[in-house]
Parts: sequence; structure tokens; C-alpha cells
Amino acid sequence: MKNYVDGNLEAMATIPFSLTSPEFIENPYPFYDKLRSISPIYWGNSVKYPGWYVTGYKEAVAILKDTRFENRIPLPQTSKKYEHLKNLQNDMLLFKNKVDHKRLRTLVSKLFAPNVVESYRPNIEETVNELLNEVQNEKRMDLVSDFAFPFASLIIAKILGVPVEERHQFKEWTVDLIQTIDFTRTRRSLADGNDTIRILIDYFRELIEKRKLNPQNDLISLLMKEEQQGDKLSNEELLATCILLVIAGHETTVNLITNSILSLLTHPEQLVELKESPLLIEKAVEEFLRYESPTQMTARIASEDIEINGMTIKKGEQVYILLGAANRDPKKFNNANVLDITRNPNPHIAFGYGIHFCLGSSLARLEAQIAIQTLLQRLHNLQMATPDLQWRKLTGFRALKELPITFN
Ligand code: HEM
Repeated sequence: MKNYVDGNLEAMATIPFSLTSPEFIENPYPFYDKLRSISPIYWGNSVKYPGWYVTGYKEAVAILKDTRFENRIPLPQTSKKYEHLKNLQNDMLLFKNKVDHKRLRTLVSKLFAPNVVESYRPNIEETVNELLNEVQNEKRMDLVSDFAFPFASLIIAKILGVPVEERHQFKEWTVDLIQTIDFTRTRRSLADGNDTIRILIDYFRELIEKRKLNPQNDLISLLMKEEQQGDKLSNEELLATCILLVIAGHETTVNLITNSILSLLTHPEQLVELKESPLLIEKAVEEFLRYESPTQMTARIASEDIEINGMTIKKGEQVYILLGAANRDPKKFNNANVLDITRNPNPHIAFGYGIHFCLGSSLARLEAQIAIQTLLQRLHNLQMATPDLQWRKLTGFRALKELPITFN
């Protein structure tokens, strides 16, 4: 028997849920509560995903800020099959550690600072209004495919500098991408994501070459120029950064907007409150991030034996940090399972914590605030068109397949 659990025999049990079971996908929160009540760090002997499951807030923060827990590429290192995807991921900020991470993060972070992001406001407002113009008279839409998805895709495309005439095609490519960072994906979904990555690599290579010859005021040109103490992004790092921004910044934003509107529709009194007090929007978005966290889980691997909560996590063991569970830990949040758009303070970790804290958090916040507020201002009598909702089987993410709504 391994000696990773000191005195906590219960924690040796088989994990009492499957990450892919229909009950868990539909509503993971009772499972999180159960797990946390047994132990905030729990050894799950799941055949498919053995590892430590972290549901406690304090424990999640402790692990995320400890750089001995590393963020590694979620691909079998021996597999030759996804070679180019692995090579690309090698150059991604998300999968770098320690000094290598610091170097890359320094080269890109200035371009995501709140003052830079604020300059995107007019562009974001225009995009929201254009999309709403298209559906306003229809009196119904699927919030995911008619609004949130094209919105998030258009914004990241505009910011990166994808030309107008190529943005529709770009949106189509983004559909399968999220699979490439879902570490529990199936072979088929990985293959789909892999094919799209190949197309996107070629596309961005060409765009980068064009911007080298003719720089514009877009993120690709700015990233190319960015220099810190004589150091610059290499061509491959620039390419990997562009693709990471599309992967990390797209689906998550779609889900934040969709989950926020769902939370309001299921709490009509808070919808009324937000309509009457639009200044609450910033607090409300923080609460949507906490209550239905778009990224429910991230993972780390212990680079050495590490003591935590009296247990030893052994070198090489996998740790699953359930952000969606930490954000509902009653030890940290009063009435943790209750939505409260006035909650203050709200130290959720929906954007992660520590060195990998979301680079695009200011952008995501601004996008969500503008999108939700404009939606509430322009579409009246918002209702769910059906109570039957389906969540996507996308492990680690809280993503509705569709959200049909009606309005006047
Ligand atoms: C990292 C969530 C939007 C770019 C992360 C992490 C989380 C997260 C949890 C940390 C992952 C880890 O520690 O393993 C979210 C959520 C978003 C969002 C919930 C929207 C609601 C965006 C946007 C962008 C972006 C809009 C950029 C356009 C990134 C990047 C990283 C990251 C580049 C890696 C940072 C690093 O490794 O240093 N995000 N994200 N994200 N996010 Fe976001």
C-alpha cells in the first residue's frame, strides 16, 4: 500500500463520483460538498483519474501558490501522435513553470493590464450591440450560439488582428479547441481539437509573417515588438501565445456570460435588482464567477514529496484542484451555495491563484460586464424558453450546450 495518506483511511476510498457521470455533469455541487465533508484533500482511487481531489478553499490556494506543484502538458509524453500539439504546448505560458514561466509572463502581461484592456471598451460595446441588433426582433435566441459564442470569438479575433473577412471562418475553428486543454478528453475529441490546431497553426504563421512586414495596432504586432531587458518572444512562442489566447480566452468567456444569465433567470428577484441598480454589475459578475465557475477544475503534478494537511503528496502524483468546489467552501464563504449579487468581499478563485492566475481576467470581466448589462438593458422580460437544459460533457468546465431564451 502506498503511504500517501497519514491516518486518513477514509480518504483511501474510491472516489464517490465519476467526473463524467450524468449526475455530476448536471449538478456537481452536492458531490463537492460530500467530498469536502470527508476531507478537503481526498485521494480518489478512480481507475481513470487517480489523484488528489482538492475541494477546500484554503487547501486549493495553498497548492496553487506552491510552485512545487507544476502545471504539465496533459498529453501522454510517450505518444508520437500529437507531436505538433505537444511542441506547441511546450511554448505555452500555461504549461511553463518557475523561471521559464516568469520570463514568458513578463513578456506578455503588460498587454493585458487593466488600462490596456479598458481601451477595448468601445469595441466590445459595438460588438455586443451589433449581435443584439440581429436578434432583437426575433424575440427569441439561443444565448450560446446566437450571442455568447460569436461575441467571445469576435472579440478575441478583433484584438489579435484577424481581418474582418476571416472572422467567420475563425469562429468555426474555435469550436473544437477547448478539447486540447481538457485533460480528461476522449481520443475522438482530442483528434478533433488536434486537427483544428493544425489549421490554426498554419493560419497564425501566415498572419505573423504578414504583420512582420506590415505591423498594425493589434495584439500580434504588439507582442512581436514587446521587449524586456533585451529579451523577446521567439516566433514559436508568439505562435503558441496566439493559440493559447484563443483556447483560454474563448470558451471560458462564453460560459461566464451564459452561466451568468442562467443564474439570473433562476433567481428572478436578483435579475430585477440588477436591472434596477446597474452599478451592481461588477459585484454581480464576481458572484457569477464564484457561483457557477466557468473553469471548474485545474490540475497540477507534485514535482517532489510535499506535506499538506498532515498528508504527503508523493512526487509524480496528480492533484485535481476543483475551483468550483473551493468557491463554495462554507469555511470561506457565508451561505456558500446561495447566489448573492451583492456579496462583498468575494475572494473567489475562479481565475485561479498564484503564478498562473488568469492573464485575461481584466478582459473577461469587462466583456462579461458589458455583455450582461447591455443584454438586460435591451432585452425585456427575459425568460428561459425551456426548463430542460443540457450541460456539455466537458470535464473541468461548466458549459451549457444551449440556453434558449425569449424576450420582448
Ligand atoms: C489562466 C480562468 C478568460 C487567458 C487561467 C486560469 C484560470 C482561468 C482558472 C488558471 C489555470 C491554472 O492555474 O491551471 C478563466 C476564466 C475566464 C478566462 C474563468 C473567463 C471567464 C481568459 C481570457 C484570456 C485568458 C479572456 C485571454 C484572452 C489566460 C491565460 C492563462 C489563463 C493566457 C495562463 C496564464 C499563465 O499560465 O500564466 N484562466 N480565464 N483567460 N488564462 Fe484565463
